[in-house]
Amino acid sequence: MFRFDSVTFLDILRVPSLTIESGRITSLLGASGSGKTTLLRMLNKMVSPTLGEIFYKDRPLREIDSVLHRREVLMLSQTPVMFEGSVRDNLLAGLRFRKEVYPEDAVLSAMLERVRLDKPLSEPVEKLSGGEKQRLALGRVLLLDAPVYLMDEPSSSLDEDTATAVIDRITACVREKNKTLVLVTHSGAVANKYSDDIVEIRNKVAERRGV
Ligand SMILES: Nc1ncnc2c1ncn2[C@@H]1O[C@H](COP(=O)(O)OP(=O)(O)O)[C@@H](O)[C@H]1O
Ligand SMILES: [Mg+2]
Repeated sequence: MFRFDSVTFLDILRVPSLTIESGRITSLLGASGSGKTTLLRMLNKMVSPTLGEIFYKDRPLREIDSVLHRREVLMLSQTPVMFEGSVRDNLLAGLRFRKEVYPEDAVLSAMLERVRLDKPLSEPVEKLSGGEKQRLALGRVLLLDAPVYLMDEPSSSLDEDTATAVIDRITACVREKNKTLVLVTHSGAVANKYSDDIVEIRNKVAERRGV
């Protein structure tokens, strides 16, 4: 799905050679500040390599329109944006941007259940905690259909039990629909348990590690 060829971003990160396979779950591991978010942002064309080339489906990413690319390669950022309004408004925000038909409330409620957010659809979003907002943003992304999902530490502000349950459901959903997922995590245990492939950043170099 993605191929990195001698990529460098400033003096922050090097990706000499890396392939991210379609239909698989890839975990991206590394210490805080190692460049995980930077690598994810390169996949989403939010940042471009200083040197080298990234290919998406064998096409150079720099030749692909950024807006169209981001419809196919959906990113859940570490600090998701919330919109004023209710839980429902925020779940529908992605679909609104795409001018897509809204699903019924039953579908939205099922999504809240899936991401383990026990709040009514009418709840004002400013009443949610950080971890609840993170799960709401996750639900918003999962309502959108795309071949590739990039998730930047989706469980970072959740307690361990909730984090496990949420990752369980994300990965089940991704596998069921045969999607490609790149999951940033700082947990080796999560990476080992849920992913087909592990990419590790060490000493500013990203490389595939044997699972
Ligand atoms: N656009 C940028 N320009 C300069 N430095 C950046 C840029 N983006 C990130 N950095 C720096 O790169 C390093 C890696 O950041 P980041 O990718 O956010 O790490 P991680 O997600 O692994 O915690 C940090 O030191 C950060 O300050
Ligand atoms: Mg980060």
